[in-house]
Formats: sequence, structure tokens, C-alpha cells
Amino acid sequence: MSLNPKLADWTGLRVWLIGASSGIGEATARLLMQRGARVALTSRNEAALKRLADGKALVATADVTDRASLQAAFDDVCTALGGIDLAIINAGTHQPVRAWELDAAAEKLVQVNLVGAINASALLAPYFAQSGGGRLAITASVAGYGGLPTGLVYGATKAALINFAETLYLDLAPKGVAVHLINPGFVKTPLTELNDFKMPALIEADEAAREILAGIERGAFEIHFPKRFTRVLKLLNLLPYHLYFPLVHRITGL
Ligand SMILES: NC(=O)c1ccc[n+]([C@@H]2O[C@H](COP(=O)([O-])OP(=O)(O)OC[C@H]3O[C@@H](n4cnc5c(N)ncnc54)[C@H](OP(=O)(O)O)[C@@H]3O)[C@@H](O)[C@H]2O)c1
Repeated sequence: MSLNPKLADWTGLRVWLIGASSGIGEATARLLMQRGARVALTSRNEAALKRLADGKALVATADVTDRASLQAAFDDVCTALGGIDLAIINAGTHQPVRAWELDAAAEKLVQVNLVGAINASALLAPYFAQSGGGRLAITASVAGYGGLPTGLVYGATKAALINFAETLYLDLAPKGVAVHLINPGFVKTPLTELNDFKMPALIEADEAAREILAGIERGAFEIHFPKRFTRVLKLLNLLPYHLYFPLVHRITGL
């Protein structure tokens, strides 16, 4: 059963992609352009966005932690495209942290991953609610399902985003607005280059992009992939803590 309306055709769909310059966002932008969507690209690296756009997409540079720059990008996108049908809030950063390495500087992860998504949603949720339509997609992570070694602060931001997207759904679905929660497993991108362990079920960014668009087409609330990995994590997180903790140690070796 799909929790959101299905999407049959990407042609002409006005999509604002935040966090578009590399990795999953870049691959998703390329696929959206191939499918005929009208795409606006946002992140900090203007040169990378311009290369990606290649004259075929709008570039609206912004930092999600800077509300004024995000507001200006939102205004530019609305003016240039005449509105937004789908927004994908995908900006994020990662830094593996173990408990004994914890430094207050890791607060940056909260600023980008969580506060950044709230900043973008504060523009988009009222906009879609007022228009009585549209789609809002938020990229969290399976790292938000439960505690995992090296994900000390990253996982906490993603757990918060999962809760945030659930509550957005509860509020917005009755108003006719679709909400999608994107929970990828390991994807090969600049973000995961920092991981010095063998990442199980690692997929390419192109595959992630195909999964994201297919999930939106199906009208799924949670879009999680690859299933061979995410289903195992879902099961693991159903266990009581006295089984969960030793199993996580054994599986990760950490
Ligand atoms: N790769 C994985 O295995 C994986 C798994 C689960 C979830 N995710 C999530 O997927 C999303 C994309 O990650 P990725 O793996 O594709 O990493 P990535 O290649 O590092 O991409 C991150 C994107 O976020 C943008 N960004 C970072 N800080 C920003 C800021 N302050 N303001 C605006 N944009 C900002 C970056 O652009 P600029 O540098 O140009 O600003 C870039 O476009 C993230 O939310 C990540 O947490 C990734």
C-alpha cells in the first residue's frame, strides 16, 4: 500500500534538489534531467553545480546552515521555475566518531544534517501546505535506525531526521502533500570515503538515484535500499538491547 500518491511522469516536474553537487545528489540530479524534469540545484560549491547543470538546470547556491542564503535560493527557484513540485533535502555531512574521540566540533554534523534540513523544511512545508500539493523528500540514513559504532553524532542526526519526516507526514499528508523519507544503506560517495571499514552491501550512487526515483514513483513513505542490507538492520533493531548490543559488536567487529 502506498502512503503517498504515485508519480507517473517526470516530464516537466519542477524539482529543487538541495545537496546536489556530489554523490547521491549529483546522481539523482543527472537522472532527473534525463527523465525530463526541470531541475534546480543547490549546495555551496557553485562551480560543481554549474558543471553538473551544463546549462540544462538552474543553479541556486546556498548553505543550508545559512537561512538567508537558503531563502534567497528558494525565492530564485520559485521565480525561475514558477513553483516547486518536489523538493529533495539531501545535504549532509559525515565524520566517523568513536566515544573517546568525541569533540564538541562534531556539533557541525547537527548543524548541517539536522538544523540544515529544518531550515529547508521551514521554507518548504508551509509552502506545500498552503498550495495543498507537492512532495517533500528528506534524506536520512539507516544509521538512524539504532546506535552503531563510528556513527556517534551522525546517527543521532539521522535518527532525529527520521522522526522529523514521520511527523511531517502526519501533518502534511492530510493536506495533500506527499512526504518521502529516504534511508540509504552504504553508497559509494565522497562522504563514505572517510569510512576505514569494509562497508557491507555498498552500492554506486547511480543505483541509489534509481532507487530514490522508483520509490517516489511508487508513492512510498520510506524509501530504503539496498533491501538486502536495510531489511537485516530493521530486524536487528527489533531485538531487545541485551541481544542488539553484542550482535552489533560481533557483526561490525567494533
Ligand atoms: N553515502 C552513503 O552511504 C549515505 C548513506 C546514508 C545516507 N546518506 C546521506 O545522503 C546524503 C548525501 O550524501 P552523499 O553520500 O551523496 O555525500 P556527498 O557526496 O558528500 O554529498 C553531500 C552533499 O551535501 C552538500 N552539502 C554539505 N554541506 C552542505 C551545506 N552546509 N549546505 C548545502 N549543502 C551542503 C554537498 O555540497 P557542497 O559541498 O557543494 O555544499 C553535497 O552536494 C547525506 O544526507 C548523507 O548523510 C549517505
